[in-house]
Parts: sequence; C-alpha cells; structure tokens
Amino acid sequence: MRIDVSFSSNHLDELQLRDRNVVVVDVLRASTTVATALANGSREIIPVASIESAVKISGSLFGEVTLRGGERNGKIIEGFNLGNSPREYTEATVRGKSIIFCTTNGSVAMSRSRYARRLVVGGFVNMSAVVNFIKEEQSDFLIICAGKSNGLRSFSIEDAVCAGMMISELTKDKGQDVELTDSSRAAIALFKTFGRSILKMLKTSDHGQYLEEIGMGEDLKICAEIDSIPVLPFQQGTVIKLRRDSGSADATTEPQAAVNV
Ligand code: MLT
Repeated sequence: MRIDVSFSSNHLDELQLRDRNVVVVDVLRASTTVATALANGSREIIPVASIESAVKISGSLFGEVTLRGGERNGKIIEGFNLGNSPREYTEATVRGKSIIFCTTNGSVAMSRSRYARRLVVGGFVNMSAVVNFIKEEQSDFLIICAGKSNGLRSFSIEDAVCAGMMISELTKDKGQDVELTDSSRAAIALFKTFGRSILKMLKTSDHGQYLEEIGMGEDLKICAEIDSIPVLPFQQGTVIKLRRDSGSADATTEPQAAVNV
C-alpha cells in the first residue's frame, strides 16, 4: 500500500480527493477536539468549511441537540456555543449532541475530503487507532496535514511530525508492505528529528506559540498525549462518527468511557 502525505490541504479539492482513502491530521487542535467530542459521547461531528455554511446548516437542524463549535484565530466564533479547545468538549456538554464544526483549517480539510472513500481524523491522541485502521484496510492512503491557510505559510510542523509518526509505526511492522513517496519520506525524517518530545515540538511550533500567547497553552499538553483518546473518528455520509474497533467499516458503537481533558 502506498502512503502519501500532503503537507497542506490548500491546493486540494473535493474532486481530487474523491474515492481516495484519507486521514486528516490537524494536531492543534481540530483533530484532538473531534476525537475528544466523540469519545465524550457527541453523536456526530458535521465539519463545514465556512461560518456561513455553519449558520445555514444550523438553520435546518433546530433544537437543543445541535451545538455549533469552532474558532477563528483560535477563539470562539461569535454566536457559537463552543470554541475549539478540547477542554470545552466535556461529556456534560456534548453527550448526545450533533456538533456543527467550523475551524480555520481542520474542518476545511475534512470538508474537502467529503467524497473520499474512507475519511478518518487523526492526531497524536489516537495514533494507534489510525495506524491499526490503515493496516486493516490494506489500501493506499493519503495523509492530509491541515496545515495553515494564511498566504505563504501553509506548512505546520506538528501535522507533518504526526504524519511521520503514523508512517513510521506502519513501516515498523515488517508484515506491512508500505510504499513510500518523497513526502512520506520527508515526514518520517521530520518525525525522527522532532518527535522525541512531542510537547516540546508543539511548544516551539508557530501555532503552539500562538495558542500559548492567547492563553490556550493547556491544550498543547492534551494534544501531545499519544493514544490518550483511543477512538477512530470516521466519516459516514456527511458526518463524522465513532467507528467500531473491528468489523464493518460502516458501523458505529455507543461512545466509550468519557475522557476528562
Ligand atoms: C484549525 O482548524 O486551524 C485549528 O484547529 C486552529 C485552532 O483552533 O487551534
């Protein structure tokens, strides 16, 4: 199976991603927040690419079962119920709720991947769940690093290191026939260089520094914890739900024990 990496989603569109197998990685913080929300009992995440879409969708889904979550510049969007800190997505807040999710890069990458054959959301917190899923599927995968969408700066080191760790875990298993590409080799090299202390790498990253500046430094520790939220956010139709550990790829289970982040 060939494992490729895109270091940004800016140049990708829905048609290019149609029928591909995709892992969307947005370590800081969308992937971590989606995993936390689902682990804490959220019914589903509905990723959208813009605030306008979020407003439009929430107009058609009324009632208390729907929340709007997301950020601009790392802060809660006016009129939304939740920001993008995993600490906000507690069991008390999200259990049983559908969450319309709009972030600057992560939800955009998820939304661009909506016609993928398989779409899963990954970060450090659910590393093994993603790696095991890829092994199980035995198909080519594209790991999309959400990166940044502001002008010339499209690369985010934390997403690239996470992609590199996923591929390193896959290649460690000698039973796996993994074909690498230039970008997947580059991701592995970044993981080897910066992966020794994930938290340190996050703290020195552009976005990590910004999150610390706006008082969200605690989130970095949550996002750095390998396998702390062992769930697999998996797209079904237009929403992202929890996937059962094994068996049918289209089945979901009731949420597992809540995670306190
Ligand atoms: C994004 O989608 O760009 C982020 O997850 C930003 C953040 O809230 O840290």
